[in-house]
Amino acid sequence: MRQFNEDTLTDAVVARLKEVDNPRFKQIMTSAIKHLHGFAREVQLTEEEWFEGIKFLTAVGQKCDDKRQEFILLSDVLGLSMMVVALNHKTIPGATEATVLGPFFAHGAPEFDYGADLREGATLKGEDTWVTGRVLSIDCKAIPNAVLDIWQAKADGVYDVQEAKAEFELRGRVKANAKGEYAFKSYKPKFYSVPIDGPVGEFIRASGNHHMRPAHMHAIVSAPGYQPVITHVFVEGDPFLDGDAVFAVKDSLIGKYKKVSSAEEAKKLGMPNPFLRLDWDFRLAPEAGVKARKVIAPSDAVA
Ligand code: BEZ
Ligand code: FE
Repeated sequence: MRQFNEDTLTDAVVARLKEVDNPRFKQIMTSAIKHLHGFAREVQLTEEEWFEGIKFLTAVGQKCDDKRQEFILLSDVLGLSMMVVALNHKTIPGATEATVLGPFFAHGAPEFDYGADLREGATLKGEDTWVTGRVLSIDCKAIPNAVLDIWQAKADGVYDVQEAKAEFELRGRVKANAKGEYAFKSYKPKFYSVPIDGPVGEFIRASGNHHMRPAHMHAIVSAPGYQPVITHVFVEGDPFLDGDAVFAVKDSLIGKYKKVSSAEEAKKLGMPNPFLRLDWDFRLAPEAGVKARKVIAPSDAVA
């Protein structure tokens, strides 16, 4: 077969997949080709525009290394990451909602027990917060010995892994106790900008939108026999809750940081007086044969 035009080319390209054994790969590539061609036809893509796209994707790839994942960031700001979360993690009634993983998860964070201090070694101070709650099943029974992978940005809006230093900061694997209770000391998160010093930043500026994420703490909560959840706790009252640069806000994930003024309470918990307190329960759905969501760190994407 030869001599294709804009009406016959798509079928010819799809036909080249006829020997593909893997049916899922075939399905995905067939659809991707049809949509790509359809997109080019719909906008009547010029050669200059095609080359601009090539240059943009090249720059996105060149910005990636084992710490920086510009492609995940691109997926996030295009809403693709949240689309994939929505398709694959339909909320089970009573369970904590899932949201975007983001590009700043890191493997191998230190482990902490009940009441530990994630502020230790922090290079920047914030508002001292006692974060506490339980890990429960959807019928509100305590789940013993869950692990909460926690990470958040520093007061300057930058994550530890974005810097050229080896130490983790405001990040840890917090172990809940046998009664499902967890607690740790941290700082109240602040809103921050997604990285805009690369091609995705250029795209955001070109789109005329802001590049802010509302303040949040990340958590991956897991326990044997339950579906792990990749989620956030957002800060009530944050000015960027509407208009999150990556579309990840859910009403059910907004927590209240309450001020506690009590010398006695502060002393008991080892906190300064006054301090903030976030009470937050996580609820996990039973595993029931569901495939766990993959937790990807930027370094996983580099061969
Ligand atoms: C984050 O919350 O860490 C994040 C998510 C998506 C893009 C950039 C940052
Ligand atoms: Fe974040």
